[in-house]
Amino acid sequence: MAELEPNSVPRHIGIIMDGNGRWAKQRGLPRQAGHRRGAEVFKEIARACQARGVQVLTMYAFSTENWKRPKEEVQSIMDLLRRFLKDAKKYRKDNMKLRFLGDRAPLAPDLRALMEETEEGSASNTGMTVNIALNYGGRDEIVHAVRTLAQQVREGTLNPEEIDEAEISHHLYTAGQPDPDLIIRPSGEFRTSNFLLWQSAYAELLFMDVLWPDFTPQHLDQALEEYARRNRRFGGI
Ligand code: FPP
Repeated sequence: MAELEPNSVPRHIGIIMDGNGRWAKQRGLPRQAGHRRGAEVFKEIARACQARGVQVLTMYAFSTENWKRPKEEVQSIMDLLRRFLKDAKKYRKDNMKLRFLGDRAPLAPDLRALMEETEEGSASNTGMTVNIALNYGGRDEIVHAVRTLAQQVREGTLNPEEIDEAEISHHLYTAGQPDPDLIIRPSGEFRTSNFLLWQSAYAELLFMDVLWPDFTPQHLDQALEEYARRNRRFGGI
């Protein structure tokens, strides 16, 4: 890590936490045990990212498609989030800002209240921003943005000609944040599964052959070294 130039550290990293189920299966444990371990790794990696100077970290915790999983598994992921948010006050010393990306309407009222409390309670922190994507889908996010803009056009407060890329970005859950520079997907799958669809247009993609519960700060360092090696051209030469 010592050799990395500060400007070669990605400002914003997105991580698709994948492989919890397989990790548990390999050990003859219930899938929930994989998610539990995944949530621990989440905390460890968030701290490691902050220590390396990352400004924004977005973690995919639950997608708009994950409701299709068995009820008990959905319940166990929501319970892990509840526990994490109740404990979050203890992590004040981490100085991170916590934000949630996604459609909150279908979530349980107590969970939504905890999410709001955590966002408000951490808003004045000055460290890294951690976005937790929860009931998040990239297409769903764009649909919401388009609906809001259409509404403004109907009300006469927006001209269709004024709709440009910046206007759309401004209506996404990540409004005001830099786009991700690096997206990491562990677990050996080669897709981004509706994660930060609009924002990842120029992101470097990195697929790593390790299950999320086995992901360590050393894997993060490997990812950062690979990122620093890539020559980013943004469509230029
Ligand atoms: C993907 O692995 C993982 C999920 C759908 C859930 C991720 C959620 C957590 C780690 C808990 C969130 C908690 C906090 C505190 C953010 P998978 O189940 O799809 O694994 P598989 O592909 O091996 O089955």
